[in-house]
Amino acid sequence: MKKFKSALLKTITMACCSLFVLHNAKAQSIEEVEGTEMKSPKILIAYYSYSGNTEQVAQAIQKQTGGDLFKITTEGTYPEDYHQMTTQAKKEILQGYRPKLTSKIDNIADYDVIFLGSPNWWGTITPQVSSFLQNYDLSGKKVIPFVTHGGGGQQNTITDMAAQCKGCLMEPNPWTGYGNSMSGLSDWIDNLGL
Ligand SMILES: Cc1cc2nc3c(=O)[nH]c(=O)nc-3n(C[C@H](O)[C@H](O)[C@H](O)COP(=O)(O)O)c2cc1C
Repeated sequence: MKKFKSALLKTITMACCSLFVLHNAKAQSIEEVEGTEMKSPKILIAYYSYSGNTEQVAQAIQKQTGGDLFKITTEGTYPEDYHQMTTQAKKEILQGYRPKLTSKIDNIADYDVIFLGSPNWWGTITPQVSSFLQNYDLSGKKVIPFVTHGGGGQQNTITDMAAQCKGCLMEPNPWTGYGNSMSGLSDWIDNLGL
């Protein structure tokens, strides 16, 4: 009887220990999963703006998302005269000009989500944004385009951006706005599910 009691006690003790270990292992794995799910993405808002519209949209996106703002700047200047300026820009686009970047991101690998903004220039993205895409590896990152225009709408801006963004996970619902219009911008950001 003594032997039976001691065996029973041993069995109960082992069962309790196993339950304790199992419970802790389970708790830990749930914590780990929750930790992964809860981690909010690191967001960058990179943009080029010549006359300020795209910059204003970028600033509004930054305010709502809390991401880091990055202004794309390059070497080169444009004439004061609007007609001459647009003519030079057209020439640059046709020639595939890629101006040297003068602003730099040290830690691009840290970002999960990149909002990338460009004005519509002659139906496409600007050479400055193309230079940005040529210089930074955004493959595997979620890239969310935003484009401002002067009445022509999106035209080839988004498809050209996607073509130059090798391996990027392009957001299928980009922002396209007339000038610095922000009508609907906040809801658009909310619906991105970031
Ligand atoms: C060189 C140049 C070319 C442009 N081409 C177009 C165009 O093809 N279609 C359009 O809708 N707007 C065009 N625009 C207007 C700009 O897309 C619009 O004003 C934009 O909001 C400017 O953005 P920004 O102020 O950030 O530079 C052009 C503007 C410039 C300066």
